Amino acid sequence: MCHPESPSLDPWSYIPVVTSEPSGAAATIAQIPTRDWRDLRDARLRALAAEPDAFGTSWEADRQLTAAQWQETLTSNAWYRASADGASYDGIVALLLHDVEPDGAPQLGSMWVDPAHRHSGLARAMCTAVAEHARRAGARSLGLWLVVGNDAAERAYISFGFRYSGAEKPAPRDPSVVMRRMVVAL
Ligand SMILES: CC(C)(COP(=O)(O)OP(=O)(O)OC[C@H]1O[C@@H](n2cnc3c(N)ncnc32)[C@H](O)[C@@H]1OP(=O)(O)O)[C@@H](O)C(=O)NCCC(=O)NCCS
Repeated sequence: MCHPESPSLDPWSYIPVVTSEPSGAAATIAQIPTRDWRDLRDARLRALAAEPDAFGTSWEADRQLTAAQWQETLTSNAWYRASADGASYDGIVALLLHDVEPDGAPQLGSMWVDPAHRHSGLARAMCTAVAEHARRAGARSLGLWLVVGNDAAERAYISFGFRYSGAEKPAPRDPSVVMRRMVVAL
Protein backbone atom coordinates (compact mmCIF):
# COMPACT_ATOMS: atom_id res chain seq x y z
CA MET A 1 0.00 0.00 0.00
CA CYS A 2 1.43 3.34 -0.99
CA HIS A 3 1.29 6.39 1.18
CA PRO A 4 2.81 9.82 0.67
CA GLU A 5 4.61 9.66 4.01
CA SER A 6 6.44 6.43 3.27
CA PRO A 7 7.10 6.31 -0.47
CA SER A 8 10.60 4.88 -0.28
CA LEU A 9 10.53 2.43 2.62
CA ASP A 10 13.28 -0.03 1.86
CA PRO A 11 13.84 -2.94 4.24
CA TRP A 12 17.49 -3.15 3.31
CA SER A 13 18.33 0.53 3.45
CA TYR A 14 19.56 0.25 7.01
CA ILE A 15 20.37 -2.78 9.12
CA PRO A 16 21.21 -1.60 12.62
CA VAL A 17 22.51 -3.67 15.48
CA VAL A 18 21.58 -2.23 18.85
CA THR A 19 23.13 -3.34 22.08
CA SER A 20 21.36 -2.71 25.35
CA GLU A 21 22.51 -3.53 28.83
CA PRO A 22 19.49 -4.92 30.65
CA SER A 23 20.28 -5.77 34.25
CA GLY A 24 23.95 -5.19 33.53
CA ALA A 25 24.14 -8.02 30.96
CA ALA A 26 24.68 -7.12 27.31
CA ALA A 27 22.00 -8.18 24.84
CA THR A 28 22.18 -7.95 21.08
CA ILE A 29 19.32 -6.80 18.89
CA ALA A 30 19.99 -7.92 15.33
CA GLN A 31 18.01 -8.19 12.11
CA ILE A 32 17.08 -11.75 11.17
CA PRO A 33 18.40 -12.77 7.74
CA THR A 34 16.07 -14.65 5.38
CA ARG A 35 18.18 -17.80 5.64
CA ASP A 36 17.21 -18.04 9.33
CA TRP A 37 13.46 -18.29 8.61
CA ARG A 38 13.15 -21.57 10.54
CA ASP A 39 14.45 -19.91 13.71
CA LEU A 40 11.95 -17.07 13.29
CA ARG A 41 9.11 -19.54 12.66
CA ASP A 42 10.00 -21.53 15.77
CA ALA A 43 10.21 -18.43 17.98
CA ARG A 44 6.96 -16.99 16.58
CA LEU A 45 5.07 -20.26 17.07
CA ARG A 46 6.49 -20.52 20.60
CA ALA A 47 5.19 -17.02 21.34
CA LEU A 48 1.75 -17.71 19.87
CA ALA A 49 1.42 -21.02 21.74
CA ALA A 50 2.45 -19.51 25.08
CA GLU A 51 0.52 -16.20 24.78
CA PRO A 52 -2.60 -16.91 22.69
CA ASP A 53 -4.41 -13.82 24.00
CA ALA A 54 -1.59 -11.35 23.35
CA PHE A 55 -1.65 -11.27 19.57
CA GLY A 56 -4.10 -10.53 16.77
CA THR A 57 -3.30 -13.78 14.98
CA SER A 58 -3.26 -17.37 16.23
CA TRP A 59 -0.84 -20.31 16.45
CA GLU A 60 -3.25 -22.30 14.28
CA ALA A 61 -3.08 -19.69 11.51
CA ASP A 62 0.68 -19.15 11.56
CA ARG A 63 1.30 -22.90 11.80
CA GLN A 64 -0.14 -23.13 8.27
CA LEU A 65 2.38 -20.72 6.76
CA THR A 66 4.73 -22.24 4.20
CA ALA A 67 8.50 -21.93 4.01
CA ALA A 68 8.02 -19.52 1.12
CA GLN A 69 5.73 -17.32 3.23
CA TRP A 70 8.21 -17.16 6.11
CA GLN A 71 10.97 -16.27 3.65
CA GLU A 72 8.72 -13.66 2.06
CA THR A 73 8.01 -11.90 5.35
CA LEU A 74 11.73 -11.76 6.08
CA THR A 75 12.47 -10.41 2.62
CA SER A 76 9.68 -7.82 2.54
CA ASN A 77 9.87 -6.66 6.15
CA ALA A 78 12.50 -6.25 8.85
CA TRP A 79 12.38 -8.77 11.70
CA TYR A 80 14.66 -8.44 14.69
CA ARG A 81 15.67 -10.82 17.44
CA ALA A 82 16.92 -10.07 20.92
CA SER A 83 19.63 -12.35 22.19
CA ALA A 84 21.27 -12.44 25.58
CA ASP A 85 24.08 -14.72 24.39
CA GLY A 86 24.31 -13.50 20.80
CA ALA A 87 22.74 -16.62 19.28
CA SER A 88 19.48 -17.46 21.06
CA TYR A 89 16.04 -16.08 20.23
CA ASP A 90 15.08 -14.44 23.53
CA GLY A 91 12.76 -11.97 21.83
CA ILE A 92 11.41 -11.14 18.38
CA VAL A 93 9.68 -8.18 16.75
CA ALA A 94 8.67 -7.18 13.23
CA LEU A 95 8.79 -3.91 11.37
CA LEU A 96 6.11 -4.40 8.73
CA LEU A 97 7.28 -1.86 6.21
CA HIS A 98 4.49 -2.25 3.68
CA ASP A 99 1.61 -2.70 6.15
CA VAL A 100 0.91 1.03 6.21
CA GLU A 101 -2.37 2.26 7.73
CA PRO A 102 -4.28 5.41 6.70
CA ASP A 103 -2.35 7.33 9.38
CA GLY A 104 0.79 6.71 7.29
CA ALA A 105 2.73 4.69 9.82
CA PRO A 106 4.39 1.33 9.13
CA GLN A 107 3.69 -1.32 11.78
CA LEU A 108 5.57 -2.68 14.73
CA GLY A 109 4.19 -6.21 15.22
CA SER A 110 4.66 -9.63 16.80
CA MET A 111 6.61 -8.25 19.78
CA TRP A 112 7.52 -11.05 22.19
CA VAL A 113 10.10 -11.56 24.93
CA ASP A 114 10.83 -14.98 26.45
CA PRO A 115 9.46 -15.00 30.04
CA ALA A 116 12.95 -15.77 31.37
CA HIS A 117 14.20 -12.45 29.97
CA ARG A 118 11.32 -10.08 30.77
CA HIS A 119 11.61 -6.86 32.74
CA SER A 120 15.20 -6.41 31.63
CA GLY A 121 14.67 -3.95 28.82
CA LEU A 122 14.58 -6.23 25.79
CA ALA A 123 11.22 -4.95 24.55
CA ARG A 124 12.42 -1.39 24.88
CA ALA A 125 15.64 -2.22 23.01
CA MET A 126 13.70 -3.90 20.21
CA CYS A 127 11.35 -0.88 19.99
CA THR A 128 14.44 1.30 19.64
CA ALA A 129 15.83 -0.84 16.81
CA VAL A 130 12.52 -0.93 14.93
CA ALA A 131 11.91 2.80 15.37
CA GLU A 132 15.41 3.63 14.17
CA HIS A 133 15.04 1.36 11.14
CA ALA A 134 11.66 2.91 10.27
CA ARG A 135 13.00 6.44 10.69
CA ARG A 136 16.02 5.79 8.47
CA ALA A 137 13.73 4.18 5.90
CA GLY A 138 11.75 7.41 5.65
CA ALA A 139 8.84 6.96 8.07
CA ARG A 140 7.84 9.82 10.35
CA SER A 141 5.74 7.70 12.69
CA LEU A 142 5.43 4.08 13.79
CA GLY A 143 2.17 2.32 14.62
CA LEU A 144 0.92 -0.89 16.18
CA TRP A 145 -2.30 -2.65 17.12
CA LEU A 146 -2.65 -3.70 20.76
CA VAL A 147 -5.18 -6.22 22.04
CA VAL A 148 -7.33 -4.57 24.73
CA GLY A 149 -6.35 -5.93 28.14
CA ASN A 150 -2.67 -6.57 27.36
CA ASP A 151 -1.54 -4.39 30.24
CA ALA A 152 2.15 -5.38 30.26
CA ALA A 153 2.55 -4.56 26.59
CA GLU A 154 0.54 -1.35 27.01
CA ARG A 155 2.93 -0.20 29.75
CA ALA A 156 5.97 -1.11 27.67
CA TYR A 157 4.67 0.79 24.63
CA ILE A 158 3.55 3.85 26.61
CA SER A 159 6.93 3.86 28.31
CA PHE A 160 8.52 3.98 24.86
CA GLY A 161 6.32 6.91 23.79
CA PHE A 162 3.40 5.25 21.97
CA ARG A 163 -0.02 6.85 22.50
CA TYR A 164 -3.53 5.71 21.56
CA SER A 165 -4.78 7.22 18.31
CA GLY A 166 -8.45 6.42 18.96
CA ALA A 167 -8.72 3.86 16.13
CA GLU A 168 -10.00 0.35 16.91
CA LYS A 169 -10.54 -2.84 14.91
CA PRO A 170 -11.46 -6.50 15.56
CA ALA A 171 -8.62 -9.02 15.88
CA PRO A 172 -8.18 -11.30 12.85
CA ARG A 173 -8.22 -14.41 15.07
CA ASP A 174 -11.50 -13.47 16.79
CA PRO A 175 -13.79 -10.58 15.79
CA SER A 176 -15.01 -10.24 19.41
CA VAL A 177 -11.47 -9.26 20.48
CA VAL A 178 -10.79 -5.53 20.09
CA MET A 179 -7.43 -4.11 19.05
CA ARG A 180 -6.56 -0.46 19.65
CA ARG A 181 -4.16 1.59 17.56
CA MET A 182 -1.06 3.16 19.12
CA VAL A 183 1.33 5.51 17.31
CA VAL A 184 4.64 7.16 18.16
CA ALA A 185 6.27 10.02 16.26
CA LEU A 186 9.81 9.28 15.04
C1 LIG B 1 5.15 -7.02 26.63
C2 LIG B 1 6.54 -7.62 26.63
C3 LIG B 1 7.03 -7.66 25.20
C4 LIG B 1 7.45 -6.71 27.47
O1 LIG B 1 8.77 -7.20 27.35
P1 LIG B 1 9.93 -6.81 28.42
O2 LIG B 1 11.23 -7.12 27.77
O3 LIG B 1 9.63 -7.47 29.70
O4 LIG B 1 9.73 -5.25 28.56
P2 LIG B 1 10.86 -4.24 29.05
O5 LIG B 1 11.70 -4.92 30.06
O6 LIG B 1 11.56 -3.63 27.88
O7 LIG B 1 9.97 -3.16 29.78
C5 LIG B 1 9.49 -2.01 29.11
C6 LIG B 1 8.55 -1.31 30.03
O8 LIG B 1 7.35 -2.08 30.20
C7 LIG B 1 7.12 -2.31 31.58
N1 LIG B 1 6.68 -3.70 31.71
C8 LIG B 1 7.14 -4.76 31.04
N2 LIG B 1 6.47 -5.86 31.41
C9 LIG B 1 5.59 -5.47 32.35
C10 LIG B 1 4.62 -6.15 33.13
N3 LIG B 1 4.41 -7.48 33.04
N4 LIG B 1 3.87 -5.44 33.98
C11 LIG B 1 4.06 -4.13 34.10
N5 LIG B 1 4.95 -3.43 33.39
C12 LIG B 1 5.70 -4.09 32.52
C13 LIG B 1 8.40 -2.08 32.29
O9 LIG B 1 8.14 -1.57 33.58
C14 LIG B 1 9.11 -1.09 31.41
O10 LIG B 1 8.75 0.21 31.76
P3 LIG B 1 9.73 1.14 32.60
O11 LIG B 1 10.99 0.39 32.79
O12 LIG B 1 9.87 2.37 31.80
O13 LIG B 1 8.98 1.31 33.87
C15 LIG B 1 6.55 -9.04 27.24
O14 LIG B 1 5.91 -9.01 28.49
C16 LIG B 1 5.89 -10.08 26.37
O15 LIG B 1 6.51 -10.69 25.50
N6 LIG B 1 4.58 -10.33 26.60
C17 LIG B 1 3.84 -11.37 25.85
C18 LIG B 1 3.67 -11.03 24.39
C19 LIG B 1 3.01 -9.68 24.18
O16 LIG B 1 2.12 -9.29 24.91
N7 LIG B 1 3.46 -8.99 23.11
C20 LIG B 1 2.92 -7.71 22.72
C21 LIG B 1 1.94 -7.89 21.61
S1 LIG B 1 1.35 -6.29 21.03
